[in-house]
Amino acid sequence: MSAKLWGDGGEENVSKLLEEFNASIGFDRALYKEDIEGSIAHAEMLQKQGIIDANDLQAIRSGLEQIKGEIERGEFEFKIADEDIHMAIETRLTALIGDAGKRLHTARSRNDQVALDFRLWTLRQNAAINALLIKLVKTALTIAKDHTKTLIPGYTHLQHAQPISLAHHLLAYCAMFMRDFERFDSSYVRNNFSPLGSAALAGTPHNIDRAAAAKALGFERATLNAADSVSDRDFALEILFNASVAQTHLSRLCEELIIWSSSEFGFIRISDRFTTGSSIMPQKRNPDAAELIRGKTGRIFGDLIGLLTVMKGLPLAYNKDLQEDKEGVFDAVKTLKDSLKITIEMIGDKETKFNVNNMRAACQKGHLTATDLADAATRKGIAFREAHHLARKVVALADQKGLDLSELNAADLAQIDERLSDLAPSLDLFASMNARKSEGGTAQSAVLEQIQKVENWLAVFGEVYDS
Ligand code: ARG
Repeated sequence: MSAKLWGDGGEENVSKLLEEFNASIGFDRALYKEDIEGSIAHAEMLQKQGIIDANDLQAIRSGLEQIKGEIERGEFEFKIADEDIHMAIETRLTALIGDAGKRLHTARSRNDQVALDFRLWTLRQNAAINALLIKLVKTALTIAKDHTKTLIPGYTHLQHAQPISLAHHLLAYCAMFMRDFERFDSSYVRNNFSPLGSAALAGTPHNIDRAAAAKALGFERATLNAADSVSDRDFALEILFNASVAQTHLSRLCEELIIWSSSEFGFIRISDRFTTGSSIMPQKRNPDAAELIRGKTGRIFGDLIGLLTVMKGLPLAYNKDLQEDKEGVFDAVKTLKDSLKITIEMIGDKETKFNVNNMRAACQKGHLTATDLADAATRKGIAFREAHHLARKVVALADQKGLDLSELNAADLAQIDERLSDLAPSLDLFASMNARKSEGGTAQSAVLEQIQKVENWLAVFGEVYDS
């Protein structure tokens, strides 16, 4: 066991068990970049304020650059005894440059340091996730554009309801993913403030310039209150909530891909790149990718509940419980990013094919145009209650003949009631879809408007986030 930077040797009595229990170096090493950037910004500020001199700053900067290289080349030795990434880097810096390294921690505490590192990392992940959400919206939109005339049954209660276009269905997902984007984006804006310089919880007697350090790190400005800043993890809760909602949307889409690829539906054939075989049944093409995305939703919810539970009983200000903030966020962010990447590739793959014929055939089950017939009869002056009644009789006739309503002709209608004889066009599936022209509806004209709105949205946000 090595002596701590702040110790006098007495801490060597600490139990080996506690040393390991206490250490976060096993996972917080992921924050090394943010830790080094934060330290450089802090040192630059200290020098400008006359707290350290230019030689110290120069030594700190080059020492930290060297450490960054060592970590990235896999040469850095991470030791449990260093406890966390902050101590590991500072210990190495002091070994490299001596006394200048010992001056870096002036006017800073690990409490504001970890708050800074984790916040910077999380904000960057908000942006990285949003770049993927933009890609996903673009991918779904491209498919939608090809299918403004492709009929599929629209469902309520998973029962056939009314004919819609596949484009209309996919645009519903575009709307969800656009809201997800806006949620991550607003979290970024709300949390883009620097906790650095809050020190342990009360601020510092040194003449620091928090605003300058905040600006150098790309923050809007410094946070309001030092006690809040070292214990605030709202940014982490927000990314977990945002990830939970986004993953819920992915899970819903994947659920549809799974049922659509079943023999019962046969609406889609997912590319072989995203299905797997069975060890026993040679014919199987299992939608594992979609199932895993659906299944992994549970762990992201767990990550959110986990951190909410850590936070709920904490008195101000920093408490070691807060070290439990990171692993769930790392896990949720990785899970969501992987799920987004896979969904983009899976639906965008040229070998993922919609079976347009099966979709259309499914529309010919369930008498999807019964509402249209009743509406058309009403427009002819038949009272709605009577029109509804007549439409039910026509449905019964279709059943009797073993046909779908959309397959009946003028003679069939006249058999129920003479006044219906010219209403056969209202039984047409495509006409039914195309009649729903209201804003946000499934008619081709309304869908083209939706597509235009998504494109306008992409023109505003897509440029900024597209990599
Ligand atoms: N490893 C700690 C964490 O993740 C860093 C902060 C430690 N601060 C302290 N006062 N022990 O929260």
